[in-house]
Amino acid sequence: MLAEDFTYPVDERAETPHGLNFPQRMHDRKTESKETFDRLAPRYDRHFYGSHGRRQYQRVIAASSAWHFASVLDVGCGTGNLLSLFRGRNITLAGSDLSPGMVAEAVRRLGGDADVRVADSESLPWDAGSFDLVVSTDSFHHYPRPLQALSEMRRVLRRNGHLVLADVWAPFPIRQLGNLAARFGRDGDVRVYSDMELTLMMRETGFEEIKRVANTFSAIVMAAAVHK
Ligand SMILES: C[S@@+](CC[C@H](N)C(=O)[O-])C[C@H]1O[C@@H](n2cnc3c(N)ncnc32)[C@H](O)[C@@H]1O
Repeated sequence: MLAEDFTYPVDERAETPHGLNFPQRMHDRKTESKETFDRLAPRYDRHFYGSHGRRQYQRVIAASSAWHFASVLDVGCGTGNLLSLFRGRNITLAGSDLSPGMVAEAVRRLGGDADVRVADSESLPWDAGSFDLVVSTDSFHHYPRPLQALSEMRRVLRRNGHLVLADVWAPFPIRQLGNLAARFGRDGDVRVYSDMELTLMMRETGFEEIKRVANTFSAIVMAAAVHK
């Protein structure tokens, strides 16, 4: 395994992971994500862009079925697809997304069944200890400050709560080439992580029982708990 697999972006690096030559580009990632998904929102559920995320839903549900939970927050919830699969089970549903267009679609889908808000994953608008379960699918690789986002996910979890995080993944060296290409992309992609990087970031932000629960050629699903 190469040294890169053992490194992960500390906050300072994550804010300019494209290096000193590209600080301005990094600054625009959130704007790019917002614009990309605002534009895609009305057709996201039929668009190939959403198909990868849709394939993760059952994996996330399977991973979370091991625990009892009465409340779930989907971070980067998009059009509310995954949340809709938790409906009718007497579970309090909440979601957040940076894109007002995606949130509008989620509100249209979920109506009053869920509390869906426009919010950055790095600053979640809920009190500490609000949820038993936090889930996130195909959103994490858009976050310029992944440690801050994980810290927020941990903060809003109750003691003994759980996180299930699914994201885009690729084996070495495709992942590294993809991350290089992302420097020049315009859709808000920041970085795709190895399981080691995800594990280290989760550990650093206070998660425990960190496990890789699924890993296909293009996706990874990690689970973790909060005990303190
Ligand atoms: C590929 S879509 C996945 C949507 C949904 N989770 C799914 O699986 O269908 C990525 C989502 O992450 C959202 N996103 C990107 N950056 C974000 C951020 N900093 N905070 C919250 N959401 C963000 C985008 O607006 C978009 O809705």
